Amino acid sequence: MKTVLITGGNRNTGYGIAKLFAERGWAVIITSRNQESIDQAVKQLKEQTNGVVFGFAHDVRQTNKVDELLQKVMQTGYIPDSIILNGAMLGIGVDPLTVPIEEWEEVLHCNVVGNFAVARTFAKVMVEKGVQGTLVFLGSVNYQDCNEGRSSYNASKGAILSLTKSLAVDLGKFGIRSNCLMPGPIRTDRYDKLTEKEREYRDKSLPIGRVSTIEEVAKGVYFLASDESGNMTGSGVILDGGMDCLNSGRY
Ligand SMILES: NC(=O)c1ccc[n+]([C@@H]2O[C@H](COP(=O)([O-])OP(=O)(O)OC[C@H]3O[C@@H](n4cnc5c(N)ncnc54)[C@H](OP(=O)(O)O)[C@@H]3O)[C@@H](O)[C@H]2O)c1
Repeated sequence: MKTVLITGGNRNTGYGIAKLFAERGWAVIITSRNQESIDQAVKQLKEQTNGVVFGFAHDVRQTNKVDELLQKVMQTGYIPDSIILNGAMLGIGVDPLTVPIEEWEEVLHCNVVGNFAVARTFAKVMVEKGVQGTLVFLGSVNYQDCNEGRSSYNASKGAILSLTKSLAVDLGKFGIRSNCLMPGPIRTDRYDKLTEKEREYRDKSLPIGRVSTIEEVAKGVYFLASDESGNMTGSGVILDGGMDCLNSGRY
């Protein structure tokens, strides 16, 4: 049985990714900061998919706690074949002139350093166990289509793309592939909470006329994580309803 570990797997996109993998017969291990919310998500995933699902609290920012997560994962008896680095701080409403530097740094630390710590810890296990696994980072079209007030988030997503490529170069010799999915706006609960007018504005601002569903993003992640993407490594795959092609780039 193939196994996947997903950071931030308790809700929205991460949950959708976990559900798809479980439906396709993978053992699924999800993390987030909150054990209660993880327990609820594990229960719901089991009910919805009848799959093998585990969940552990892990704060991506706490790089010194990754070994604890590793121990818990190893105790399940499942060794991850794929690591999905999805957990992220969204860093919304940041004024670059006044934001406390620690606050700005925290987003970079969580999204880049924290996810790197998880990725390399489990990649090390793959190397030790001879698993030719995959890493899939959740980037964003914001790596270059920058929206206002999100300098730390946008910068983190730029860094994630180059981290993806760096790990592809360094880990290719072990048969480990590293790729990045870069979505545009996704239909999460935040989208659903917008007014009808705001939703329409977002949808119509995209060439395809609607934001991506969580299921579509999950399928993109699955493609990069599984054998379906064969010899692909170091790629940044855009899945955004055409947003990246526009020079207006506002949503
Ligand atoms: N939504 C979009 O339109 C969009 C567009 C492009 C790219 N993306 C990317 O896609 C991914 C998922 O987006 P989303 O909108 O589904 O995110 P979300 O709804 O904000 O959920 C974020 C997930 O990350 C977890 N998380 C946040 N901080 C964490 C931390 N310090 N440690 C561990 N887990 C943490 C959250 O769990 P807890 O809060 O319970 O810890 C949650 O599971 C992100 O990488 C995001 O940047 C999203």
